[in-house]
Amino acid sequence: MIKIVKLLCYLLFLTTEIHCKRFIVKRKTTTAIPKNATESWTGNWFPHPPLPNDSWKGKWFPYAPYTNIQTLDVTHKKQLSASEICDDGKQYIGLDYDPNDVRKSFEHLCLANRSLFEPNMNREALRKEYFIPPAYVAHSKCLNETISYDTPLPTYGAFRPIPPKYGSYIFLPAQRWLTSLSQGAVVMLYHPCANNGQVKVLQNTLRSCLYRHIITPSLALSPKRPIALVAWGKSLEMSVVDDKLVVDFIKQSAKQGPNFSSKQQNNTKIYEAGLLQEAHLITDENDIEVCGYKEGM
Ligand SMILES: *[C@@H]1O[C@H](CO)[C@@H](O)[C@H](O)[C@H]1NC(C)=O
Ligand SMILES: *[C@@H]1O[C@H](CO)[C@@H](O)[C@H](O)[C@H]1NC(C)=O
Ligand SMILES: *[C@@H]1O[C@H](CO)[C@@H](O)[C@H](O)[C@H]1NC(C)=O
Ligand SMILES: *[C@@H]1O[C@H](CO)[C@@H](O)[C@H](O)[C@H]1NC(C)=O
Ligand SMILES: *[C@@H]1O[C@H](CO)[C@@H](O)[C@H](O)[C@H]1NC(C)=O
Repeated sequence: MIKIVKLLCYLLFLTTEIHCKRFIVKRKTTTAIPKNATESWTGNWFPHPPLPNDSWKGKWFPYAPYTNIQTLDVTHKKQLSASEICDDGKQYIGLDYDPNDVRKSFEHLCLANRSLFEPNMNREALRKEYFIPPAYVAHSKCLNETISYDTPLPTYGAFRPIPPKYGSYIFLPAQRWLTSLSQGAVVMLYHPCANNGQVKVLQNTLRSCLYRHIITPSLALSPKRPIALVAWGKSLEMSVVDDKLVVDFIKQSAKQGPNFSSKQQNNTKIYEAGLLQEAHLITDENDIEVCGYKEGM
């Protein structure tokens, strides 16, 4: 574990070993750090402590002294009372994935041997449709409850109430992109070690097919088929992108979730932590025509 943290330290801050040694500290489980109380700060400064009256621009570890740690610390012991918050797409999101926590960076960094993920033309794509019992009711859960899935690559199940903005993410947890699936989006997942060229090919096709899409790395994928498309109850895992299969999958699966509606995403409550690039409209916000440009090809 220490090794991984150290490696992340090198990767993230490209610094020297001396600094990274200092960087290794035990996880604190303090509940809150009072505002304006630098003296009570028990974490570490990185790369070095600021001078007393310095306007220091470095990093703190694990959290900045002025941060209200309760909004970030997923191990908070105090149970949220039901009246406190359900989900606003911003607070308590660390329950699924904390974008400010460098220790979670392994979710989107390639820490394995890349050559195991090389594309192989002879490896067939795997298209799956899952049986969802007719009586199944899709439901959302507030951030006072954890959501876990019994398969590494979930295509249906519980999700968070607030959807993520459509587009590409540094990392988006499954609990959020499942919300998008339930609303009829197509999600592209790729292992962080997947071949860059293949990732770009699939990304370009998806982006030009429909507005309702999400693109994020995911460790759920295997080295044999490290790129995938997912829709509600369906998945397509690939080693090499097959454009025809991809377009067929998108056309047949888009706008199919149980909570699909033609309503536009509302910007008042939306999840956008880690958003790299917002999706562009292709036809209209309802994606009236999916992969239209592929007609007749
Ligand atoms: C630094 O801060 C202390 C009090 O916090 C103050 O007395 C002192 O004058 C400051 N020094 C400088 C160089 O600003
Ligand atoms: C979480 O909060 C929601 C909404 O306030 C409530 O309906 C639900 O029962 C709570 N769940 C738990 C486990 O407390
Ligand atoms: C990565 O895997 C390949 C093939 O399995 C192997 O030849 C190579 O030595 C490995 N590289 C590292 C750095 O482990
Ligand atoms: C489905 O969408 C409707 C309206 O957009 C919303 O009120 C409802 O809570 C959603 N259901 C779930 C399970 O999120
Ligand atoms: C979304 O926002 C618009 C205003 O921008 C508002 O008129 C509409 O009622 C909102 N829809 C929902 C479902 O909250």
